[in-house]
Amino acid sequence: MADLHSPILSWYAENARDLPWRRPDATPWGILVSEIMLQQTPVVRVLPIWLEWMERWPTPKDLAAQPSGEAVRHWGRLGYPRRALRLHACATAITEEHGGEVPSDHATLLALPGIGEYTAAAVASFAFAGRHAVLDTNVRRVFARAVRAEEYPPTATSAIERRLAESLLPEVGAPTWGVAVMELGALVCTARAPRCADCPIADRCAWRLAGKPPHAGPARKG
Ligand code: ADE
Repeated sequence: MADLHSPILSWYAENARDLPWRRPDATPWGILVSEIMLQQTPVVRVLPIWLEWMERWPTPKDLAAQPSGEAVRHWGRLGYPRRALRLHACATAITEEHGGEVPSDHATLLALPGIGEYTAAAVASFAFAGRHAVLDTNVRRVFARAVRAEEYPPTATSAIERRLAESLLPEVGAPTWGVAVMELGALVCTARAPRCADCPIADRCAWRLAGKPPHAGPARKG
């Protein structure tokens, strides 16, 4: 497997979007809220609502002090409003069981209500610099193409994908690597019309080198 790290990291340094939850002053709570909001909603729609939420409820305690209906009300038009209830339950558990501080370790995060494998890995990595494979749909698509010569990853994350992503984690700088691959998937290696001409790993992408064989079966959204 040809080296993917340096071209992707250089590309990210030049092309990363400046998003508030990626800035050095982002809090673990802000990062957690962003990851829940971004799971089913695009960045442009999340941005204004995230900014408003963080102003209204800058800490888990602030949200936990409100009735859960307030969380739903301010979820706005992000869709899937059950996420607002889960975030409220999560804020309550953080307040009652963790002294109001978002836990830093993956297993403790995973035990919180509303936090699944993806969110636990994303928060442990992006907020606490942990070395975890962060496998969202964009990352999974990049690896499916670049390494496995497949147009789309399988419907559910497989153990093979997880092992591959873990084997690609750099010893140092895993969080930046994770967000860089995510950004490449979001901006260049898109689901429907990948912009291979702008891709920093086009010369070594297994899927492109194989002639971009189409996925056998129904196309996936991702
Ligand atoms: N930056 C960090 N996590 C992200 C996500 N889930 N989507 C977009 N940008 C992000």
